Amino acid sequence: MTEKDFIPKPYSNSLESGSFTWSSPSNIALVKYWGKKEHQIPENPSISFTLDNCKTTTNLTFSKKSNHDGFSFEVFLDGEQKDDFKPKIETFFKRVEVYLPFLKDYHFTLETSNTFPHSSGIASSASGMSALALCLMSIEKSIIESDVTLNAPDSYRDERPFNNDYFIQKASFLARLGSGSACRSLEGGLVVWGKHDNIEGSSDLYGVKYPYEVHQNFKNYQDTILLVDKGEKQVSSTVGHNLMHGHPFAQQRFEQANKNLSDIISILKSGHLDKFIALVESEALTLHAMMMTSQPYFILMKPNTLEIINKIWSYRKASGSKICFTLDAGANVHVLYPESEAPQVLEFIQNELVAFCQNAQYICDVIGLGASKL
Ligand code: DP6
Repeated sequence: MTEKDFIPKPYSNSLESGSFTWSSPSNIALVKYWGKKEHQIPENPSISFTLDNCKTTTNLTFSKKSNHDGFSFEVFLDGEQKDDFKPKIETFFKRVEVYLPFLKDYHFTLETSNTFPHSSGIASSASGMSALALCLMSIEKSIIESDVTLNAPDSYRDERPFNNDYFIQKASFLARLGSGSACRSLEGGLVVWGKHDNIEGSSDLYGVKYPYEVHQNFKNYQDTILLVDKGEKQVSSTVGHNLMHGHPFAQQRFEQANKNLSDIISILKSGHLDKFIALVESEALTLHAMMMTSQPYFILMKPNTLEIINKIWSYRKASGSKICFTLDAGANVHVLYPESEAPQVLEFIQNELVAFCQNAQYICDVIGLGASKL
């Protein structure tokens, strides 16, 4: 698939109005995406667990407007108008307009809510952008299905079958243009984004479900997210990605991510948890090492992030547990562990880690099934 394959043939748009609702989860990367080229093309491939409980639900209502000048939309978060979300959505609409030529035909009302606390430091861009992309795909699907030109001569008709695979692939393609990691939030389990020679079907343009065998050890893998700092990040991911241009260690980092993705294939197959831990923790610390060695340099971890990491290491050493951590672009810690260890690890979290969380807050999550239409 190329970008051009996502541009629909002209349709006669006779749909007046409607509404769709999708719920889409967040995801946590094991091999991280950090650094991108133009048009949201990643510098290296990444792989993530799709989460289950951390979700965004978005209802998109659309009604035909009389003119075609500019985008017209309003945004609500938990019922409250959110004009500060508009610039990001306007940028997204501009990026995807060529792939969704109906965008200027309608006025949109976007009503969104997250299951995780607002400004918890949990990125809502992955779940939010994927939910929005899916609502837009539902609109495109109904326009095409109601299209009178489907009865037109073959030469005019779009031959591509509008099947579920294409729907999800294009939704992932669009979500990527909103926020890179969002393209990994549509399907369940493990999702790969970025071309990698050893992963069949992988693409820089959209996420694909991890296509190989995964050991039982990873079934219902747990992710408890410790909320260390709920404040606004000082440096956004987008700015951080840009600092990988001209970064002294960029090339080595991109090569390392490619190698880690090769290595994780046999780890996922064999269920070798010690190797999994070593790879995942190294990825997390390398991500933050890239931030600390950018120009300008910055630190997103907080003292309590390090306290938690040290506690996890001590607990693992003392108990033989297969607990490990990963980080995204912030201070919160994702604690990963097999389902079989859940009772003991939760006790450890409550006894020793909650003290380092802001307002003692944490969220218990698990690998999920991906987005769903409501
Ligand atoms: C550290 O997807 O938020 O979470 O494409 O600029 O929206 P944009 O960035 P974003 O970056 C996420 C980076 C990360 C690693 C990852 O999820 O792979």
